[in-house]
Amino acid sequence: MSSPAIVNLWMLLVCCILIAVKGGWDEEVGLLRRGGKQRQFDYFKLALQWPGTYCRKTRHCCSSNACCSRSNSPSVFTIHGLWTEYNDGTWPSCCSGRPFDQKEISTLLEPMRKYWPSLSCSSPRSCHHKKGPFWGHEGEKHGTCAYPVVLDEYEFFLTTLNVYFKYNVTEVLFEAGYVPSDSEKYPLGGIISSIQNAFHTTPELVCSGDALEELRICFYKNFEPRDCAHDTSSRGSCPQYVSLPAHGSWGFRSNTTAAS
Ligand SMILES: *[C@@H]1O[C@H](CO)[C@@H](O)[C@H](O)[C@H]1NC(C)=O
Ligand SMILES: *[C@@H]1O[C@H](CO)[C@@H](O)[C@H](O)[C@H]1NC(C)=O
Repeated sequence: MSSPAIVNLWMLLVCCILIAVKGGWDEEVGLLRRGGKQRQFDYFKLALQWPGTYCRKTRHCCSSNACCSRSNSPSVFTIHGLWTEYNDGTWPSCCSGRPFDQKEISTLLEPMRKYWPSLSCSSPRSCHHKKGPFWGHEGEKHGTCAYPVVLDEYEFFLTTLNVYFKYNVTEVLFEAGYVPSDSEKYPLGGIISSIQNAFHTTPELVCSGDALEELRICFYKNFEPRDCAHDTSSRGSCPQYVSLPAHGSWGFRSNTTAAS
């Protein structure tokens, strides 16, 4: 781990919050549970995206799209979301709770911008049918269903960052020699076993063509790694050899400085 001190600090924060937080989603989701509308989820899935692949789809730029900001553009797996899942392959969504409120996570904005950037210009629809930021969509759709493990919005985002810091997929792949490249192809089985060896769980993979676009790992409710339930083939949509495109080859051609 490259930054154990930070991780420990986050962990400490989570503990404090677990003890301190009452109310918020707790109360509202509790009501919903008593109403029996939504059964409790079975496990978590951390979905990570590879910007080098995702950003090749970028057709136009805007300030909210991290693919377009040259100084700030990520070359690590970034967070897509922390999803709640059922063992049968379905999942709950938009469970309950208040609409996303960015003020509640103001102290987390710095790591959020860095590690959980939006990689498109679109504003996804929230559970309340309003268009909003990527985080808001993720928090409302999935975070609200994480009760009783996660009790409110702040805890959801902090928990997600913690898990992401602790299970550094980028580090594992880089150390195994799977580094960003526009010419190399890597054996998918090698990528899968490097994650298995590091985290004792089989990742779920999503490709766009032969480029790795998403890598997902699953956790019990206590955040011990486990396999993702219904996925019979962890290869997902990936061929046997995949690429990990370097950033800088991104396709924001509408902006003039791109060479070709
Ligand atoms: C292109 O990049 C420049 C400089 O980074 C920026 O000011 C401009 O808004 C960008 N154009 C588009 C269409 O995003
Ligand atoms: C994960 O590892 C990569 C590669 O070593 C590093 O650049 C990055 O900062 C790490 N991420 C976190 C959140 O620690």
